[in-house]
Amino acid sequence: MLLLLAAAVTIPLGLDLYLPVPEDNPLTFEKIELGRRLFFERRLSRDGSVSCGSCHDPDRAFSDGRPVAVGVFGRRGSRNAPALVNRGYGRSFFWDGRVRTLEEQVLKPIQDPNEMDLTLQEAAARVNLSDDAIARALASYVRSILSGGSPFDRFVNGDRTALSVEQQAGLQLFRGKANCVACHVGPNFTEEKLHNTGIAWRDGRPADPGAGHGDFKTPTLREIARTAPYMHDGSLATLEEVIEYYDRGGNRSPGLDPEIRALHLSPTEKQSIIAFLRCLHGASH
Ligand code: HEC
Ligand code: HEC
Repeated sequence: MLLLLAAAVTIPLGLDLYLPVPEDNPLTFEKIELGRRLFFERRLSRDGSVSCGSCHDPDRAFSDGRPVAVGVFGRRGSRNAPALVNRGYGRSFFWDGRVRTLEEQVLKPIQDPNEMDLTLQEAAARVNLSDDAIARALASYVRSILSGGSPFDRFVNGDRTALSVEQQAGLQLFRGKANCVACHVGPNFTEEKLHNTGIAWRDGRPADPGAGHGDFKTPTLREIARTAPYMHDGSLATLEEVIEYYDRGGNRSPGLDPEIRALHLSPTEKQSIIAFLRCLHGASH
């Protein structure tokens, strides 16, 4: 069993070698492969038009390039489809962290009327599997999607030429003056906690309450150059807009996280941070 687990995925440079896997759903090639097929299976949606891969496109680090997701019959949701890399390390799922395990998470979009819009019974009948088997396979596939081995990881591992001088300056700002590591920390650039960074706040109230008061989960920054637009509502189109947002200290709001405050970055400093963020792409799958 241990051998199978080690062989089923290779952990890229920079990520935690301990990839947590539930005891009752060990990672196997068979389940990952089945999960991959189900992930791109359009029959898992009411009108046969949408698969998980429609909103989580491998060419965009499993995001979709849209501000908010579009599901069956062109129905629009209210949130941005997040990148799905390194989710095996996640401690909670969805932007508001409302779900605890990947096995539970992967069945939600199938049932969401704005996404795939099937009952679990209908889904199971369409692919001749139990809903439990669907959940285990999809969760295993999602767990196998890993991003590491980026220029940043090679730099930290001792290759001093892996980052340009500008990117190194950006890394220092990221860790220092710009204070990004207050939340985007560790091998996956997230402490997996909820914060009000002010994004949801318009006209004195949160347009989306998230986990309450406009709180959302810190997302990974790996592959970030490929996953625009940004934030839970897709409201920031570019990394430039993201840096401007943080630089001005976010949107004023009650309960704004104390780590969000005006940064007074110079134009060169902003450029360096963006150059650094662009080096977080890995040799993934
Ligand atoms: C119509 C677009 C759409 C489809 C189809 C879709 N998703 Fe998503 N996915 C989203 C959106 C939007 C979110 C964030 C929703 C939220 O936070 O409320 C999300 C969130 C997730 C997350 C949580 C990521 C995190 O970091 O917390 C996972 C995992 C995921 N989807 C996997 C899947 C799988 C597996 C399927 C197929 C069974 C699927 N998705 C189908 C749009 C979609
Ligand atoms: C207080 C914690 C905190 C700090 C400090 C912080 N972030 Fe974030 N970051 C978050 C949270 C939470 C989100 C998601 C917010 C939302 O969608 O409403 C986020 C989202 C992002 C996103 C968009 C990710 C995506 O997939 O859409 C980027 C890029 C980003 N942050 C970069 C940075 C940079 C660069 C800094 C430093 C200048 C920084 N963050 C500082 C918590 C933080």
